[in-house]
Amino acid sequence: MNTHPATPDTIAEGARILKAGGLVAFPTETVYGLGADATQPEAVARIFEAKGRPSFNPLIVHLGSADWVSDFAEPDARFHKLARAFWPGPLSLVLNQRRGTPIAQLATAGLETIAVRCPEGAVANALLNAAGRPLAAPSANRSGAVSPTHADHVAESLGDRVDLILDGGPCSIGVESTVLDLTTREAVILRPGAITPEQISTLIGPVAAATNAAHAPKSPGQMLSHYAPSLPLRLNAKTVAPREAFLGFGPTDGATLNLSESSNLFEAAANLFAMLRSLDNPDRFNAIAVAPVPETGVGIAINDRLRRAASQ
Ligand code: TXA
Ligand code: MG
Repeated sequence: MNTHPATPDTIAEGARILKAGGLVAFPTETVYGLGADATQPEAVARIFEAKGRPSFNPLIVHLGSADWVSDFAEPDARFHKLARAFWPGPLSLVLNQRRGTPIAQLATAGLETIAVRCPEGAVANALLNAAGRPLAAPSANRSGAVSPTHADHVAESLGDRVDLILDGGPCSIGVESTVLDLTTREAVILRPGAITPEQISTLIGPVAAATNAAHAPKSPGQMLSHYAPSLPLRLNAKTVAPREAFLGFGPTDGATLNLSESSNLFEAAANLFAMLRSLDNPDRFNAIAVAPVPETGVGIAINDRLRRAASQ
């Protein structure tokens, strides 16, 4: 067993493993990340191998504080406004890379840009600062599968491919960070998350939402058919068929599980991936029907993940 409760001792051990080029899975406020020292090419290569991830898909580089960013990227005024408002927090910002950056090229898939994020959460922050290195960290699941929001999900998905799994309990937000591209004149949301377009545009003016077709090459992780359970998903379901699992939202008759009986979108986001995992059981069901979720706030991110899960 390589899962251990996150304590000062296990976090220090995690930092040692990372500096030696190993892989450590750790909790963030969004989902569990599979971390490696972003400056060591072999360590980053291990992430791709462990996940079975295509090497053209770049990784988010996690930082211990916003002050680290200028070592790796060229922050602009918009970056500083957003980082002051939302970091540490669930917002990844795509910037131009600095010349002579120590980040391994594989981490950024050879792009001239880099996605950076300072995660919230005591364990992630303590690990980053103990390691003192930028950590490349995709979600800690096999490529294409649903992201992990509990340490158990990581162990099920990656097992011995990880040197250490730090268990910090369930993730509070439950969907991956908002990814915002700041390398264009008008900022573009490449992936919706808990930080909404309204919150962003209040600070930096208009933001565009990426259409899949136009931006798929820019954010390759946004390919459709991602985050997919093995059973087919049926969205906006009002009723349930025999042998279907029914994932409810708000008051829902006949729900097998309910994302949030009180229609709370944050509660729904936190439950989403764990509930999809537990309903993804071909012995009991032949499909998963999902009740409609409002397309507002973090509901936009929930529907984005559901549409991807449904399009296999
Ligand atoms: O919440 C999160 O962001 C989690 C936790 C662990 O921090 N991480 C995560 O990483 O979701 P991952 O690798 O599963 O997703 C990263 C996304 C992908 O869609 C990838 O294509 C995009 O970010 N991305 C990374 N670098 C990029 C870049 N330079 N330009 C455009 N998109 C980028
Ligand atoms: Mg992922």
